[in-house]
Amino acid sequence: MSASCVIGCNGDSSPVAWQPDQCHNPHLIIGGSSGSGKTYTLREIINALSAQNISFTVIDKHGDFDGLDAVHEYCFRYGFNRGINPLSIEPGIEYGGPQFAALSFVSLINEISGVHKLGPEQNNMLNNAITDLFRANGIKQESPETWNQEQYPDLNDLTRFLMHKYKKILIGAGKDKDVDSLYKKKKHLEKLEKAAAREEDVASDIEETITTLVSQYEAYLRKGLLNDRDFLIYTNAKGLLGIKNRIEHYGKVGVFVKDEISLKNARLNIKYLEDEQKKIVVYYVLKRLLDRFSKAAVTKKIRHYIVIDECAFFLEISKIKQQIKKIVQEGRKFGLGIIMATQNPLHFDEDILLNSASKMIFSVEPVVYKNIVRSFGIDAKVLSSMKPRVNCLFSTNTNGNGGYKLVQRTRQTYR
Ligand SMILES: Nc1ncnc2c1ncn2[C@@H]1O[C@H](COP(=O)(O)OP(=O)(O)O)[C@@H](O)[C@H]1O
Ligand SMILES: [Mg+2]
Repeated sequence: MSASCVIGCNGDSSPVAWQPDQCHNPHLIIGGSSGSGKTYTLREIINALSAQNISFTVIDKHGDFDGLDAVHEYCFRYGFNRGINPLSIEPGIEYGGPQFAALSFVSLINEISGVHKLGPEQNNMLNNAITDLFRANGIKQESPETWNQEQYPDLNDLTRFLMHKYKKILIGAGKDKDVDSLYKKKKHLEKLEKAAAREEDVASDIEETITTLVSQYEAYLRKGLLNDRDFLIYTNAKGLLGIKNRIEHYGKVGVFVKDEISLKNARLNIKYLEDEQKKIVVYYVLKRLLDRFSKAAVTKKIRHYIVIDECAFFLEISKIKQQIKKIVQEGRKFGLGIIMATQNPLHFDEDILLNSASKMIFSVEPVVYKNIVRSFGIDAKVLSSMKPRVNCLFSTNTNGNGGYKLVQRTRQTYR
């Protein structure tokens, strides 16, 4: 049986159905101002299609989706200790391996951090730190067979790794294993100096500590700075500390960890995350789903939907938009669909609109009438007569070949 979901009724009370398998592609776009009934509709669709053996990943930005029939809740917050790992690599050379994973993480955090972009030196250090961390875990760019690991390092590991490199350049230690002891010695020296300032008798202790520090530093210098690859890469202590703090901050929510949740029939409540963390979650969820489904057998039927309510917030980020474009262009073959809702349907760009066969437009704010009439080819009079929750315009190629039809939404009329 092909999937079908009643989304309202005609003027004569006959039901109007959305039949994703019968369309050019299974994707659906929902637009309408706040309170017009988008989230309510999404819930109806999720419940109806879950009952037809279709699984869902629901991105719940505001915590609006509790109590769905067949979808587990994962509340992404501190202490949950499961989530999604940005440093996990999809095995298979088509996914680019550790270098690609590093690059895409660095460019994502640059994009989401707006004015707090990393400087060029920091970009370079972070990129190297991630690939060095992979390497330290046996994951090497040149050997694709090492990309397939049970577990990958996560943001907490990266924070520790960056701290280690920071200590290393601060004290000038040669071997990695010397770093912590030397760092501690230097801290110890600082304490001793303070004790001396309080007129405590620590003079011989100070002498001894300095001698150890000097001899180890001398040994390091004698080996030649140019022989220390880290000396050439981690060039800026302050910048390195800045990156470490940034990664630590993203990681402290406890969601970017090794243990990933299952995305099948999952509702990800990301309400408690900061905006930047929400975007990181969504980027990697989209990527994970597309990567996994791209390996699935080709199908004509929809198997899985990703639902993104309040989508405009995520479309601001071009890397997320690119993932969405890829899903609308490539998902269909593998049975992966996407349903997106937003207050301003003009946020979808042409590629997304052209590749989404079905659209629902609820009542919208008068300021956007003109542009919606132009972009969606909707009659201006009809648009201005629409009422929140009561009706919407529906376009799908199984119904009047994609022309917009007015659909009644109120419960009494179609149940
Ligand atoms: N078809 C409907 N029948 C009954 N109540 C509805 C219907 N559509 C929306 N509502 C109610 O109207 C309010 C606003 O709807 P909601 O879906 O949250 O709007 P939006 O997500 O577009 O801001 C909610 O309380 C919702 O339960
Ligand atoms: Mg809503």
